[in-house]
Amino acid sequence: MKKILITGGTGYIGSHTAVELITENYKVHIVDNLSNSKIEVLSDIQKITGKKPCFDKIDLLNKKETDDFFKINNDFDAIIHFAAYKAVGESVAKPLMYYRNNLNSLMNILSNMQKYNISNFVFSSSCTVYGQPDMLPVTESSPIKKADSPYGNTKQIAEEIINDFLNANKQLKSISLRYFNPIGAHESAHIGELPIGMPNNLVPFITQTAAGIRKQLKIFGTDYNTSDGTAIRDYIHVVDLAQAHILAVRRLIKNENKNNSEFFNIGTGKGNSVLELVNTFEKVTGLKLNYILTKRRPGDIEKVWADTSLAYKELKWKAKRTLANALLSAWNREKIYRGIK
Ligand code: UFG
Repeated sequence: MKKILITGGTGYIGSHTAVELITENYKVHIVDNLSNSKIEVLSDIQKITGKKPCFDKIDLLNKKETDDFFKINNDFDAIIHFAAYKAVGESVAKPLMYYRNNLNSLMNILSNMQKYNISNFVFSSSCTVYGQPDMLPVTESSPIKKADSPYGNTKQIAEEIINDFLNANKQLKSISLRYFNPIGAHESAHIGELPIGMPNNLVPFITQTAAGIRKQLKIFGTDYNTSDGTAIRDYIHVVDLAQAHILAVRRLIKNENKNNSEFFNIGTGKGNSVLELVNTFEKVTGLKLNYILTKRRPGDIEKVWADTSLAYKELKWKAKRTLANALLSAWNREKIYRGIK
């Protein structure tokens, strides 16, 4: 049985990926510092899969803690590295926190990969590396422009660090998955996106507003050059996204990669505006959302959506689930979590 280490595995995408891996018969070991997730997620994963992953509470920023963990646990077939801060707006306000956390933790892991010769690395990258692309849909060969936020910059720098590291360690391999905007929840509603404190991302803010936890959703920016003036993103169902990780891990383990550092866009190929998303949420849930239109949020780009043909060609991966399905699953998870009938 292949053994996979998932950093940030109790978080949103990490937990969904853990479920998919366990379902595919991989042995999963999670490390997380629980800064934006709860330990109960492990039991939730067990409710879905029947298996509880191994878990260690590790702060990957702490080199000694990380090194001590790897001293005992180093027989992994692959590492999937999710652990990172991820909010664009917050990164504008707290840039050092983002650079320190997202980059030091990455380097602490890579040094242990080298030390213990763990060959395969899947990195949680982001479409944010493209900044505001000149051409849409954006392909993997689009120029990497100056990032619009410190968060985006951490993902650009992280990809460079990985490339330089792999150039120096030819026996190691990596796939960076450039996610577009992950939303939704597992169909069982046992896991989902449950940020601690005020949500930064759109969909948890929407579901918490619908649940009465937040008074009002603010729609940031109505003067973008789009059909309704609100910003456009490519919203991808988190379970589709999680499944892309399984294919990436399998490709690396089977040595099917074409070079030792690969990059794939993981999105639906379709852009939706913030207002379209709100309207779809209202339609599928039958609820009325309390929202207002406000000014732009610093660090946001206007529009982006993915060209996903490379992921299809190389990984045989394609998004299967719809926006409506994703929004309904997010709402179902919020309802169960809050005890709403
Ligand atoms: N938005 C609102 N109101 C809110 C929250 C968000 O109008 O309360 C808008 C944003 O301004 C943006 C859109 O909804 O136009 C999506 O915003 P999110 O915060 O949900 O997502 P981002 O596009 O800013 O960032 C997300 C992830 C990043 C990832 C990026 C890739 O947080 O990790 O998608 O596009 F890199």
